[in-house]
Amino acid sequence: MNVGIIGSGGREHALCAFLKKSDKINKIYCFPGNGGTSSLADNIKIDLSDFEKLKELIFKLQIELIVIGPEKPLVDGMVNFLEKNKIKVFGPSKIASQLEGSKIFTKNLCKKYKIPTANFGVFNSIEKSIIFLNECKFPLVVKADGLAAGKGVYICETYQESKNAIEEIFNGKFGDAKEILIEEFLKGEEMSFFIISDGVSYKKFGTAQDHKRVLEGDQGKNTGGMGAYSPSRLEDKELEKKILKKIIEPTLQGLKDLKTNFNGFLYAGLMIVDNEPLLIEYNVRMGDPECQTILPRLKTDLFEIIDACVNKKLESIKLEWFEEKSLCIVLCSKGYPDKYDKNLELKNIKNIKLEENDYIFHAGTEIDNSKVYSNGGRVLNFVVKSKNLKDAREHAIDLINELNWENGFFRKDIGYKIIKA
Ligand code: AMP
Ligand code: GLY
Repeated sequence: MNVGIIGSGGREHALCAFLKKSDKINKIYCFPGNGGTSSLADNIKIDLSDFEKLKELIFKLQIELIVIGPEKPLVDGMVNFLEKNKIKVFGPSKIASQLEGSKIFTKNLCKKYKIPTANFGVFNSIEKSIIFLNECKFPLVVKADGLAAGKGVYICETYQESKNAIEEIFNGKFGDAKEILIEEFLKGEEMSFFIISDGVSYKKFGTAQDHKRVLEGDQGKNTGGMGAYSPSRLEDKELEKKILKKIIEPTLQGLKDLKTNFNGFLYAGLMIVDNEPLLIEYNVRMGDPECQTILPRLKTDLFEIIDACVNKKLESIKLEWFEEKSLCIVLCSKGYPDKYDKNLELKNIKNIKLEENDYIFHAGTEIDNSKVYSNGGRVLNFVVKSKNLKDAREHAIDLINELNWENGFFRKDIGYKIIKA
């Protein structure tokens, strides 16, 4: 079968690499892919908002299954469009994607189905938001509704910081804002929890711990993710039961009550406070870089899982996992998440020797004339699977040092809360 993957990040390179292992796949096409996918698949540059053009290419290239990596095409309704054209697709519908597309949609679902989450208020003007601040305790969290590439969240220590955040959002920093969320600050430990669902049943799809801040010790600005490890150190049977019963199952029921269901990966961003899970946010896709740490631990053929999902037969598949842990370090362009240079060559990449449990997934790279160049903020993901995370991290750092890319930087402390010196 020919398969198409939508997206261009490290997550999509990992999806491509693990799908490629299946002997049921003939050819993979990536729309648009990156420097890493180009050695496994055909990369096709395309404007992902041009659904008609995508449809033409899918028919022309005889692609029988589309796997969507990032949130934007999901929120824009790519799944509904493809299904209407009788194309099999792995990913949630436009309505189900509101779980990520609108924080207010998710909060209202939490309220209706008593899903534990931070207390919140929704406000539709600067004035009403600021009046509410007078009743609040600090710190608190101000959030823009809608997709903001992880940037629409402000953790505010003071009244003044909160006021500035409210004004920035209503003044259009993340597009035309009609409503904002102000919520209670939760103090605990975060955990990324994944399930896969075919709309009929669901299965757990691993846990991970992301590191969102740009600097070591979780300091500095928020990013897309500087590194992760899997499984989360919080993973435990009792907690898992609570997450499934109190958060995941009522959410899937809520979607059913809206006459839709969830087909795809669902990523719950949780805060664990005194052993109780609270929902911070949903993402309607795999995490990036969490995906790059979870897939190397998967024993079962990824294609068979996804194929079973689109045919509503997930129930019949048994998911098996390797015992080993895995850790990912993201190599970024100096300056990220602010301004950084692009088109810088990654000269030594071809000389790096990878052993069996080592992976390099490309994110912001491009190949030109057989040479690899950076073209984004997060450039490469170094992933190592190992019995222990300390060895995994040391080995990932050795690999990055072998690359010796003068324009790059990375966090050397991924997993610092669990890896003892
Ligand atoms: P979000 O985009 O909603 O995941 O928020 C980005 C990050 O902000 C999260 O990963 C958390 O680290 C933090 N955050 C969001 N909401 C809260 C909250 N209510 N309490 C504490 N931290 C939060
Ligand atoms: N790593 C965070 C995300 O994928 O949203």
